[in-house]
Amino acid sequence: MDFSTKPFDAKNTIAAAKSGCVVVGVFDNQKLSQAAQALDKKGDIAAAVKSGDISGKPGTTLLMRGVDGVAAERVLLVGLGKEGETSEKDFTAAVQAVAKAFSTLGAADAIMALPFDGVKNRDTAWALRAAVLAGRESVFRTDGLKSQKEPAKGGVKKVVLAVAPAEASAAKEAVAQAVAVANGMELTKTLGNLPGNVATPTYLANTAKKLAKEFKLQVEVLDRKQIEALKMGSFLSVTAGTDEPPKFIVLKHMGGKAKDAPVVLVGKGITFDSGGISLKPGASMDEMKYDMCGAGSVLGTFRAIAEMKLKLNVIGVIAACENMPSGRATKPGDIVTSMSGQTIEILNTDAEGRLILCDALTYVERFKPAAVVDIATLTGACITSLGHHNTGLFTRHDEAHDKLAEELLAAGKQASDTAWRMPVEDVYQEQLKSNFADVANIGGTAGGSITAACFLERFTKKYTWAHLDIAGTAWKSGAAKGATGRPVGLLTSFLINRAK
Ligand code: BES
Ligand code: MN
Ligand code: ZN
Repeated sequence: MDFSTKPFDAKNTIAAAKSGCVVVGVFDNQKLSQAAQALDKKGDIAAAVKSGDISGKPGTTLLMRGVDGVAAERVLLVGLGKEGETSEKDFTAAVQAVAKAFSTLGAADAIMALPFDGVKNRDTAWALRAAVLAGRESVFRTDGLKSQKEPAKGGVKKVVLAVAPAEASAAKEAVAQAVAVANGMELTKTLGNLPGNVATPTYLANTAKKLAKEFKLQVEVLDRKQIEALKMGSFLSVTAGTDEPPKFIVLKHMGGKAKDAPVVLVGKGITFDSGGISLKPGASMDEMKYDMCGAGSVLGTFRAIAEMKLKLNVIGVIAACENMPSGRATKPGDIVTSMSGQTIEILNTDAEGRLILCDALTYVERFKPAAVVDIATLTGACITSLGHHNTGLFTRHDEAHDKLAEELLAAGKQASDTAWRMPVEDVYQEQLKSNFADVANIGGTAGGSITAACFLERFTKKYTWAHLDIAGTAWKSGAAKGATGRPVGLLTSFLINRAK
């Protein structure tokens, strides 16, 4: 689905615009939005609304054909809820309903003339983005590996977003950004949904190489020998049980000034997490193909910022491997030496995310980062704490880290991809005590997502760091099983704000 913007005014009217369908809003008090009023020269729309054919509740729709005085073949009315009170939720429901209606229309193009500037507590850019993301979500396909693909439906392919002339250039930029975010999220979702036997560490590395080629980014892929040479004993302990080669991926988008310190994103790329010798139970184990969603979100974010040509230095680092049991696998009780020199007693081989991330977090010291954000499907405990709505945000509690936390929280709100801050305090560190090594890799069930973050914290002393636990937000289970593309929205907003 292609999106563009077009300015309309009193001379160049929406009523006179030729298209397959024009979309306008109505409210639940039977009032028409401004664009609907302007369109309704002969009163057909008002009559339809009065008759009760559409309630105006958010997400209700009514399709009309051949409306008098309208050049477009169809008019699609969509409910926006209470007049003057359209909330973020209402508007999202409306654009989702429009996207759904688009998929079964006999029209190939449409004009969306919704009040993008009328969403409560939200700006026009947000509303335009909501329209783009809803449209792109509705055409996202997951049948790539089915032998019988769903038949390609008709539906709207080209969408023009109608804006006021005064807002035209800002709107154009907002839509370009939204499309870049949609492209990034789509990559993240596609990678997440691919099974472990396809989306291997090598596949992630090849995806990074492809991105680098397409967008002229720098890329480096380290293989096992190079990972060994770096003395990443902790990362290597996780990949010990599998035949699938591990990859350590470094991707660079240097859009800022040469001497500006980069923002570094570190992604957990476990392409399948069986738990290793601490084997997971069978139920839902298939979902552990999603354990590379942190890595996927790094690649998706790079797809987005590269397309935007963001003026910021950003480095992405992905530690990718499988976590499998075998005769060569790491055993509970094994002690390994991380790249940092700290020794780790591996009491549970299923707490593997932190074991690959800690070496990646040590590796990135060399970039003298302005900030480091790691993204990981790290703990089931994070789902227990925050459910599926908020990503867990963890940082230390000092001035620099509070500032970084605020930036990330604000970016999440801005992108409707929210996070919630959790504590990282020394009192929790005591749970990670080991009798035999510097640190244990688990801290018991109490505060499991916090002790996981505290483990990572020990490897991030040299820079400002935040950790995002996306275990609850990266994918959905059940009938709508699939990757969500989160937190690409949060991360891109964070980086866009940093580039300003
Ligand atoms: N990838 C999992 C975390 C996870 C589990 C994410 C379920 C989403 C849904 C991680 O590697 C893991 O297994 N964590 C363990 C840690 C425990 C052994 C301390 C967990 O959460 O059970
Ligand atoms: Mn695990
Ligand atoms: Zn895992």
